[in-house]
Amino acid sequence: MKKFLIAGNWKMNKSIAEAKLFADQLKGERIAHPEQLAVIAPFTQLETLKRELDGTGIKVGAQNVHFEKSGAYTGEISVPMLKELDIDLCIVGHSERREYFAETDSTVNMKLKALLNAGITPILCVGESLEIRETGNAMLFVSGQITEDLDGLTPAEVEQIVIAYEPIWAIGTGKTATPDQAEEMCGFIRGMIEGMYGRETAEGMIIQYGGSMKPSNADELLKKPDINGGLIGGASLEVGTFMEIAKAAF
Ligand code: G3H
Repeated sequence: MKKFLIAGNWKMNKSIAEAKLFADQLKGERIAHPEQLAVIAPFTQLETLKRELDGTGIKVGAQNVHFEKSGAYTGEISVPMLKELDIDLCIVGHSERREYFAETDSTVNMKLKALLNAGITPILCVGESLEIRETGNAMLFVSGQITEDLDGLTPAEVEQIVIAYEPIWAIGTGKTATPDQAEEMCGFIRGMIEGMYGRETAEGMIIQYGGSMKPSNADELLKKPDINGGLIGGASLEVGTFMEIAKAAF
């Protein structure tokens, strides 16, 4: 059976009270595969979400982490700090962090290694800008990101990473990649992983699509053979729309 991960990335939204309300509403839903569902929230809400969703199987994730264990890095959160809260997942290299917070492929690589060492699943985001797509270089760009981001990792480590293909031009714009465009890139990524790490690693890998995924387009996207779920921003902020997307998967 095809594996999915439907993950809601709340970005910089919600209060602790709103996170608790969301968790309460989520617990009232019938979810066929709660272990394939994740809520990725701001740091301040993580403890509440872990407590409220305890025993449900639903995963809780962070949106960023520092690669050092501790030290003089004002404003940062370390992997051991996430581990203390028993966090399941962590986004690495989201395009918003690459664009606004100087995240590079080299820091992404260090963050991936730190998370894997601690047994926290990284969600590695890759994806091209509109300009790159229009010049026909999307695959070249994404393959460059993947090569640098995964540098020095073993096949067993790579298999534990979730890759989210998020074309920057589709994030928060209401413009979604067509199912064929999304499948083409997710299939390309899987093929690349197969070439680098072998078929078993490639087949076991979860590759998500992200970028204006919503109830009206989720079904078609999630039916594609190489798309194992979604990294959902705007449509994950309400339980209703988030669950409609999840129900398209399982
Ligand atoms: O992390 C999520 C993605 O950036 C997609 O965001 O669904 O609001 O376009 P969006």
